[in-house]
Amino acid sequence: KRVLTVPETGLVVLVGVSGSGKSTFAARHFRPTQVISSDFCRGVVSDDTDDQGASADAFALLHHIVATRLRRGLLAVVDATNVQRAVRGQLLRIAKEHDVLSTAIVLDVPERLAQERNRARTDRDLPAHVVPRQRRDLRRDLRNLGKEGFRRVHVLRGEDEIDAAAVELER
Ligand code: GTP
Ligand code: MG
Repeated sequence: KRVLTVPETGLVVLVGVSGSGKSTFAARHFRPTQVISSDFCRGVVSDDTDDQGASADAFALLHHIVATRLRRGLLAVVDATNVQRAVRGQLLRIAKEHDVLSTAIVLDVPERLAQERNRARTDRDLPAHVVPRQRRDLRRDLRNLGKEGFRRVHVLRGEDEIDAAAVELER
């Protein structure tokens, strides 16, 4: 069992391609109110969790919720792909503004597994070209996440490591 230590007051950024299991992981290790997902925010601003045209408003809402929770001394776990450096940068800036530490948890699964899972999903109909692009972004930045400003970077490689992980909140 691998224990991932996460500051109780702070930002957790889940990172992984669509189908890597971020929402599943978040539901397993955190309370529902601690998790803010881009899907939830898209739904709130568009009645459609898959409406990509609502992304700007959805992310503004997500950032607002993250900032509010951090200001109130609460944990904020961001459940979105977060494979793009600029997207992580916005979150890191919010954490910095609130003087809290940021942790990245990367779910690094083989492309084939993510594609297989996505094909079986009923909650999302994802074009096949999306995952390879996300994976390219992720692989390029993986080694440098620490330099971006994350205090800790936990990389879970493959289904077994993801399965064996436990999260420990530390004061
Ligand atoms: P996006 O929201 O599209 O970015 O994907 P996600 O990373 O949140 O993936 P999600 O947690 O929704 O998982 C995608 C699919 O894979 C779901 O149907 C899950 O049931 C399945 N899945 C996720 N994690 C696991 C796992 O550890 N084992 C197995 N067998 N299936 C999993
Ligand atoms: Mg999800």
